[in-house]
Amino acid sequence: MTRSRFGILGFGGYAPERVMTNDEWAEYVDTSDEWITARTGIKRRRVADDRETTVDLAAVAAEKALADAGVSAAELDEIVIATDTPEAYAPDTAAFLQHRLGAGEVTGYDLGGSGCAGFVLALDVGMSRVVQRSRRILVVGVELITRMMDWSDRATCVLFGDAAGAVVLGPAEAPVELLASTAGTDGSQADILARFAGGTRKPFSLEMAERREHLEIAFNGREVFRQAVKRMSEASRDVLEQAGKRIEDVALVIPHQANRRIIDSVRKSLRLGEEQIYVNIEDYGNTGSASVPLALFQAREEGRIEPGDLVLLTAFGAGFHWAAALLQF
Ligand code: UT7
Repeated sequence: MTRSRFGILGFGGYAPERVMTNDEWAEYVDTSDEWITARTGIKRRRVADDRETTVDLAAVAAEKALADAGVSAAELDEIVIATDTPEAYAPDTAAFLQHRLGAGEVTGYDLGGSGCAGFVLALDVGMSRVVQRSRRILVVGVELITRMMDWSDRATCVLFGDAAGAVVLGPAEAPVELLASTAGTDGSQADILARFAGGTRKPFSLEMAERREHLEIAFNGREVFRQAVKRMSEASRDVLEQAGKRIEDVALVIPHQANRRIIDSVRKSLRLGEEQIYVNIEDYGNTGSASVPLALFQAREEGRIEPGDLVLLTAFGAGFHWAAALLQF
């Protein structure tokens, strides 16, 4: 079988109902709607209900993607989940989702640790597995970040939101094809965007909890900003070159939504028109691994993607990790 007979069959997305505005954040920390809007472009974000956990978010997005694909959970052969806010330390979120969906005893695994680049990386891994084994694979990006962050750290808490996005991959006559993909890692930069608490380098302790370090995100916003623009732009050029396409051929670029100013810088670096780039950060903030698949789902729902369109996904996250994919609708 050739690669062109495989691709994305269905799309799903979900964000919890509760909307939290910038003004509400100003009740918790010393911040303002003006600061958050000017520095990030975020106006509001979704926050999961206390009773919701990661698998609840993932299941809604997954069920929508399965329905869109016309594939039942029982027909799945594999489940891969990109998340850095998993249901449990072990087993992985894929195990909980397999049971929740009523899928068979399939191969299931999480790809964690690559931060906001996780979904695009998982899509690439999933696609190569589909081609190799002619299978139907569910790929999910999900984060319930608001439960795992320090609500008193204004430098990070205002940036994030909760969401999930999913796709179903498999064989079909006219699937959305993956024309090219790329991913990279630079571990020398690990310290400037990381969560160390709970790992072997920094096991949990009572003292740590008393200092609120169990929720700490090590973070150098300015350097992350610079690297995000550079890496997302380079990865985009890489997939275009691999596929022999020009940026003018691309109908829509869907970048990871970390900061409106990062997105604008990527747009300028790639010489894209405003209409060529999808932005939902105003309403959702940074939803980590869920950011790209949620935006992809919404762009399609909103009619921003037509049959025949080239769509470019590009993302950057902890590690540093980065990844890009070029899709042919
Ligand atoms: O995906 C992983 C997380 N996302 C990112 O890392 C995205 C990349 N970075 C960024 O988006 C930006 O660096 C931030 C939005 C995080 C910060 O913007 P910035 O323009 O780099 O601001 P800054 O960190 O240099 O802080 C400027 C000032 C500081 O005060 P002083 O030192 O100038 O007096 C901060 O203490 O803004 C202060 N500040 C805040 N003020 C009000 C930091 N956070 C806040 C806040 N509200 N929430």
